[in-house]
Amino acid sequence: MSTDTVPVVSSSPEDFRGRRAIVTGAASGIGAEITRGLLTRGAEVIGFDLNTDHIPDGAHRVGVDISSQRDVARACAEASGYGPIDTLFNNAGIGSTKNLIDCEPEEWDRVFAVNVRGIYLVCREIIPGMLERGVGVIVNTASVAGQIGLPERAAYCASKAAVVGLTKQIAVQWAKAGIRCNCVSPGTVDSPWVERLLNEASDPQAHREQLVARQPLGRLGTPNEVATAALYLASDAASFMTGTDLVIDGGITAA
Ligand SMILES: NC(=O)c1ccc[n+]([C@@H]2O[C@H](COP(=O)([O-])OP(=O)(O)OC[C@H]3O[C@@H](n4cnc5c(N)ncnc54)[C@H](O)[C@@H]3O)[C@@H](O)[C@H]2O)c1
Repeated sequence: MSTDTVPVVSSSPEDFRGRRAIVTGAASGIGAEITRGLLTRGAEVIGFDLNTDHIPDGAHRVGVDISSQRDVARACAEASGYGPIDTLFNNAGIGSTKNLIDCEPEEWDRVFAVNVRGIYLVCREIIPGMLERGVGVIVNTASVAGQIGLPERAAYCASKAAVVGLTKQIAVQWAKAGIRCNCVSPGTVDSPWVERLLNEASDPQAHREQLVARQPLGRLGTPNEVATAALYLASDAASFMTGTDLVIDGGITAA
């Protein structure tokens, strides 16, 4: 392919005008920030979430459990009713704070059902249209937990490593078909997710200080910092990037 036929989906880097994106987990934290960032840059956004109440204003809201094939088929049909989807952020995910002995099979399966099967199901509905049109961009939210072992995170670490693996496989599978697929791997990000984790701790303030202490940059990340990286990967500024795992972790994996 010559460089003048590079498949790009919008005319200038960082410009999402004319683009139509699905964001999963759009009601909270990183997904809500991705949604706001897309809307600000001119995209039409369809937000997927279990509970749609807090999906940012301006996005279409679709209630869906991404682990359910029937739900995902219905939600993607509704999303495609707005027009062709060229951009997909597979961001929804859930945690699990157990080692593998303490993690019951039901919890193990639920983590994989949302974090891995959810991506598979949504991609299965959306990629065929991208292939037909010869253009599409996918950004998955993995985690540093997919690269390094974290104590008491067995199912979570394994599921996020699977997200990185699936990202690379999709990238290679359809690189020549005009689809780019990358992932972001956040470190600890101050979202409602971490708030919930801290609230479960016996001493939330001490636990927060522990989390901050392991960060070379001396603070937690913000959902906006992760969203900015995800938007970059989805933008035409990243037109030569596919199969990349972009780490945004305040230096934790470098330490
Ligand atoms: N916050 C962190 O420190 C951190 C670090 C690394 C990776 N991540 C990843 O970032 C992503 C977003 O996390 P966040 O911090 O914004 O969390 P969050 O809990 O604030 O938001 C997650 C959203 O996903 C939705 N969701 C969960 N299960 C769903 C399902 N089955 N179907 C549809 N929607 C569902 C939730 O309702 C919620 O709105 C997750 O994949 C998470 O694993 C977060």
